[in-house]
Amino acid sequence: MDKFRLFPPEASTSAQQIDWIYFALVALTFLICIIVFVPIISFAIKYRRGSKADRSNPRVESVLIESGWTIVPLLIFIGLFGWGAVVYFHVENPPRDALQVIVVGKQWMWRLQHAEGKQEINELHVPVARAVELTMTSQDVIHSFFVPAFRLHQDVVPGKYTREWFRATRTGEYHIFCSQYCGTQHSAMIGRVVVMEPVDYARWLNTGQPMESIALAGERLFRERGCSGCHSVNSKFHAPLLEGTYRKPVPLETGEMVTVDERYVRDSILLPGKEIAKGYQNIMPSFAGTLSEEEIMQLIAYIKSIGNQTPSNESAPNEQR
Ligand code: CUA
Repeated sequence: MDKFRLFPPEASTSAQQIDWIYFALVALTFLICIIVFVPIISFAIKYRRGSKADRSNPRVESVLIESGWTIVPLLIFIGLFGWGAVVYFHVENPPRDALQVIVVGKQWMWRLQHAEGKQEINELHVPVARAVELTMTSQDVIHSFFVPAFRLHQDVVPGKYTREWFRATRTGEYHIFCSQYCGTQHSAMIGRVVVMEPVDYARWLNTGQPMESIALAGERLFRERGCSGCHSVNSKFHAPLLEGTYRKPVPLETGEMVTVDERYVRDSILLPGKEIAKGYQNIMPSFAGTLSEEEIMQLIAYIKSIGNQTPSNESAPNEQR
């Protein structure tokens, strides 16, 4: 019986919630099927040609029946909608304390990096019972990150970030698939999630060479690529200071307001002329083609990490004369 499986294992908190909705929908569909088909078949038999059934067809008017078959299904389907919405909000809103992992899809592999800096290919090690948030992008075509056991399925799209989160409920190994046809080796773009006990995870995280966290790597890039030359209090150029900006609204030259998020930082690095902050000029060069997807994500992580700071001489070292 273990070999015959209609469903992958339920190994995350959302898996259970999603399956309950799924089973409820299947059960309801069966019920409706029965309500429709049992009368069809019994009437077909009762009123078959030549039967002695009463065909006088007297007029029946019943407000109770009319309103009953309108209101009862209405309530059932509104209830289903509400239920689905609650689960949807749960699935779409990662908890604040989630561990951060970045995922870059490329033909044909998954590259993953933990916030602490540890990198993996086609494997994702996570602790059990902890929320894990994935920020995902692709460096070529559309892929889709699919972990059936977690009921987790999200397109990974070049040029934008998508996110998913999960909380694994059982230790073990689970499949990762790419579920969007992405070229010759699409079917080989697979991997595994390894869910470990927290102590084992901590041990795993600390094996190998000492690591630089994603935010620290971003800070280093910020200096090496010359960002800090302009985006600092000592700069001779008039460039926005980035401390304390993340998740905050920023007015644009066009009069619009945008929130500084992954999308805005990414676009500002690659298409700096697209959304100029109010009071600044379009003088920043584009870094398109000179930074990898990972490096852009590292820079974003750095800007996120200084999201609660205020600009000062120390926080933005000026490398430029
Ligand atoms: Cu990547 Cu299919």
